[in-house]
Amino acid sequence: MTTDAPSPNAAPSREGSAPPAAVDWEALRVRAVAVMERAYAPYSRFPVGVAGLVDDGRVVVGCNVENAAYGVDLCAECGMVSELHASGGGRLTAVFCVGGDGLPLMPCGRCRQLLWENGGAECLLMTPEGVLPMSAVLPQAFGPDNLTHGGSRP
Ligand code: THU
Repeated sequence: MTTDAPSPNAAPSREGSAPPAAVDWEALRVRAVAVMERAYAPYSRFPVGVAGLVDDGRVVVGCNVENAAYGVDLCAECGMVSELHASGGGRLTAVFCVGGDGLPLMPCGRCRQLLWENGGAECLLMTPEGVLPMSAVLPQAFGPDNLTHGGSRP
């Protein structure tokens, strides 16, 4: 089997990427709502679904999966990022997260960090206030650059 996927430990690359294509936000919302309906959230009764556009045009999705041991719940974004890597890797370019009402839902703090790692500053997020880049959603983020450049690089 051949694969074009980057090596598992490859650092995220920001160079040489194609210019961003127009985002079909309605298509992402539809995918997010569909996967939200598969959420396993018997404890919070707060289903979440998320869909992300990948830089090669794939769409990856995830729903939250709770556990009787409450602290080990998986947020929807965890599942989406897992599908991202399991299906070949790449970079997230646009993300739409919804709650049970189908409206845009802001990712929790930890999941903003997941989006930053896998999409970076330019990744777009649908928010209750409209589309925002991750640089606005997670300002002064800690990320892969800090590991190579320390704290001096914003
Ligand atoms: N949840 C997510 O799936 N993603 C978020 O970004 C926020 C919270 C889930 C976790 C838990 O299953 C439920 O929402 C209530 O917190």
